[in-house]
Amino acid sequence: MVIKIGLVGCGAIGSEIARSIDRGEIAAQLVAVCDHNPETAQELISSLGIKPIKANLVELVDRSDLVVEAASQRAVPAIATAALGKGRNLMIMSVGALADVDLYRSIKRMASEHGSKVYLPSGAISGLDGLKSASSGSIKSVTLTTTKSPESLEGAPFIREKKIDLKGLKGPTTIFEGSAAEAVKAFPANVNVAATLCLAAREGNVRVRIIADPNIKVNRHEIVAEGDFGLMTTRVENVPSPKNPKTSYLAALSAIATLRSIVEPIKIGT
Ligand SMILES: NC(=O)c1ccc[n+]([C@@H]2O[C@H](COP(=O)([O-])OP(=O)(O)OC[C@H]3O[C@@H](n4cnc5c(N)ncnc54)[C@H](O)[C@@H]3O)[C@@H](O)[C@H]2O)c1
Repeated sequence: MVIKIGLVGCGAIGSEIARSIDRGEIAAQLVAVCDHNPETAQELISSLGIKPIKANLVELVDRSDLVVEAASQRAVPAIATAALGKGRNLMIMSVGALADVDLYRSIKRMASEHGSKVYLPSGAISGLDGLKSASSGSIKSVTLTTTKSPESLEGAPFIREKKIDLKGLKGPTTIFEGSAAEAVKAFPANVNVAATLCLAAREGNVRVRIIADPNIKVNRHEIVAEGDFGLMTTRVENVPSPKNPKTSYLAALSAIATLRSIVEPIKIGT
């Protein structure tokens, strides 16, 4: 049976997912899309060969087996409640929202009550497979160091509150150090990966450092994890999405790979 997908959010990630389904790379049908901005949804529909309908959230959930959230952290509670309340499966891209422990618990409870699955793709980082395996033992520490261009950090709550002059930076500068939960609140559009790391590392202590570098052209994420298993280091240098420089192209590819693993009979990796 071909699964029916409803997509909420037709921006950088959502449109890559929709085009991949349209090219036949994911054995699924995109039945409905919705976006805060109706023109964005219409533009995406017009670019597709097999056209989904433009729907509101309730209609979209009714028509879908799997709801894909690619909208914003703020949108997650309403989308999760609508989808899981009707027993649909859900893929969440704005994983930073789950740094709110109450929301995380309520999503987990709704999913188990209704027999649904919730998928959280690896997003813009590498190494989540190893970290998940490692978390079956004990993890001592995990550190994420993210280096991005000042432009891609512009507008983040932490930058506004601390009145950091990003345009005045002359070289790589550490602008934030703290826990993963603090990082997600301070930079909601930049470090969803910190929340994903926390969830994968279970009880592991995840620390985050954010560096703004006026000379960098990529979004760099470096992870160092230590535990019973030994030591793991990973580093990925991501090409920013042309549509949204805050988002790495790999995050969209990770969403596509997760959808493929949902519909394909053989699962690779942890
Ligand atoms: N997990 C990861 O590693 C990772 C990586 C990059 C981005 N993200 C997150 O994924 C989400 C999507 O990223 P993007 O780059 O595609 O963003 P984007 O800004 O390019 O697109 C988001 C779209 O969603 C729409 N939208 C926002 N709120 C909505 C709502 N309540 N209902 C319907 N539509 C809504 C916007 O109008 C916009 O068109 C963001 O929250 C982003 O922070 C996660």
